[in-house]
Amino acid sequence: MTPTSDALNTIAIQTGLTTQALGQSIHILTETASTNSLGMTLAASGEPDGTVILAEHQTAGKGRLGRSWVSPPNKNIYCSMILRDPRLQQHLTWIPLATGLALQEAIQKTLGITPSLKWPNDLLIGNKKLAGILCESTSRGQTGGVLIVGIGVNVNAEREDFPAELQSTSTSIFQESGHPSNRNTLLTSIFNYLEKWYDQLASDNIVAVQSAYTAACSTLGIDVRCTLNEAREIHGRATAIGMDGSLQVIPFEQGARQVIEIRSADVTHVR
Ligand code: BTN
Repeated sequence: MTPTSDALNTIAIQTGLTTQALGQSIHILTETASTNSLGMTLAASGEPDGTVILAEHQTAGKGRLGRSWVSPPNKNIYCSMILRDPRLQQHLTWIPLATGLALQEAIQKTLGITPSLKWPNDLLIGNKKLAGILCESTSRGQTGGVLIVGIGVNVNAEREDFPAELQSTSTSIFQESGHPSNRNTLLTSIFNYLEKWYDQLASDNIVAVQSAYTAACSTLGIDVRCTLNEAREIHGRATAIGMDGSLQVIPFEQGARQVIEIRSADVTHVR
């Protein structure tokens, strides 16, 4: 069966929205290069905190580490949010993790599927990628900077919508459940949970985010390979999430006993 998908619709999304800021202003595009890139432009032109940019299709969707994000039309969620709350600037390293928590909670509550969180910014079902998060900042770390948080969720994509090389490592809610899901309903829930977790960060309740993330993170307690850069790779056991959202890894290198705190890396789960 080919999954059909309701068109993205502002009224449908805003019905049931309980947020103060997130999703109160929504731009829906039939097509754009990247909702994150458009979010940057709209932020520069003064769009308010909580503004959401959604597209039915991205022609140049961006992933982390310079990768591209496969964005078949009319099936998935391609969403970017403009965040201006200066209190979030103190907790930038937590933003992708808190975003992942909200996505997980929304997917679980709305669709009855529970993805796991792969540190720092992926949602997985089994070992296949369901969703990714790309955070960008207009002036990193400085008060007054604007955050653009981009999320891509594979909702109604079929296996054939992914290029052959990604078919064994990607999945969608449709592929897992066997039936199409309503993107508008899911988006409402995503924005409600996102604001809840961003509020925790804004009020410095890091312990709440850390403990929820620790409980949901499938990277912990397993062997991981962390590529820090072209010259440095660490193979070890991931043990904990630090107070700054870092991944704590005990390396397997001979004689290495010290925990290494990883703040940015390409992480592979070794099974
Ligand atoms: C990753 O896992 O590498 C991050 C993927 C992020 C994809 C989303 S789709 C909406 C937003 N716009 C983009 O160009 N990228 C993000």
